[in-house]
Amino acid sequence: MADPILSLDNVVAGYGDTTVLHGVSFDVPKGQRLAIIGRNGVGKTTLLGTIMGLTQLHSGHVAMGGRVIDRVAPHRRAGTGLGLVPQTRDIFPSLSVEENLLSGLRGDATLEEAFALFPRLKERRRNGGGQLSGGEQQMLAIARTLMGRPEVLMLDEPLEGLAPVICDMLMETFETLSADGRHTLLLVEQHTELALDFADRVIILDAGEIVQDASAEALRADPSIIERHVGVGLAGA
Ligand SMILES: Nc1ncnc2c1ncn2[C@@H]1O[C@H](COP(=O)(O)OP(=O)(O)OP(=O)(O)O)[C@@H](O)[C@H]1O
Ligand SMILES: [Mg+2]
Repeated sequence: MADPILSLDNVVAGYGDTTVLHGVSFDVPKGQRLAIIGRNGVGKTTLLGTIMGLTQLHSGHVAMGGRVIDRVAPHRRAGTGLGLVPQTRDIFPSLSVEENLLSGLRGDATLEEAFALFPRLKERRRNGGGQLSGGEQQMLAIARTLMGRPEVLMLDEPLEGLAPVICDMLMETFETLSADGRHTLLLVEQHTELALDFADRVIILDAGEIVQDASAEALRADPSIIERHVGVGLAGA
């Protein structure tokens, strides 16, 4: 296998003295579509936060492109090729769509690229972030992260609370981003069915540990694994 773009080595992390992740290790090859699933509160957001340097790393290592980034400050991690679309979206409600996008700008990314991906944002470019619908806010959060030109794009439950038609549109966008050969995607998702449709590989977290690391086909072939660890079966499985 080629060298991984992202690598976690026995990561123990949490908040202050509280440990949430208990020794998490995995390597992500460039271009992979990795889904991370698991029940509420098992540590999915903490895992993405730890990769971004937003939690307390008690022990272990995080590396990007072979370089250990444990000591790289969170606001500098975009410069290592990481991008996170947080579960809380965190757009600026009082700034316009354009201003929100520019806040994520790094290098030679342009507003036109964002508008090409999400034409709706172009129509709304002068509106305040707080005036957007939930779906539009998620488009803005994704587009803003893409303005940082991430090689590894991490999405924390991007479909949460959105109408099915918007979910389908966003999943198509993730396909597009993955297919362009420039992005490795980590998708945290409670919609297990959509996650499996999208992913090459699925990691299941439970109580801060990896309990399964398998191909999407393997999990489809044995739905009891998902049922056991996530508590819901696959529709039609
Ligand atoms: N800022 C924080 N300070 C202290 N504990 C936290 C903090 N954020 C999360 N936790 C705790 O860490 C554990 C894992 O939370 P996390 O948000 O990573 O779960 P999750 O898998 O993303 O859940 P969900 O599916 O609900 O988003 C939980 O016990 C949670 O209460
Ligand atoms: Mg979460």
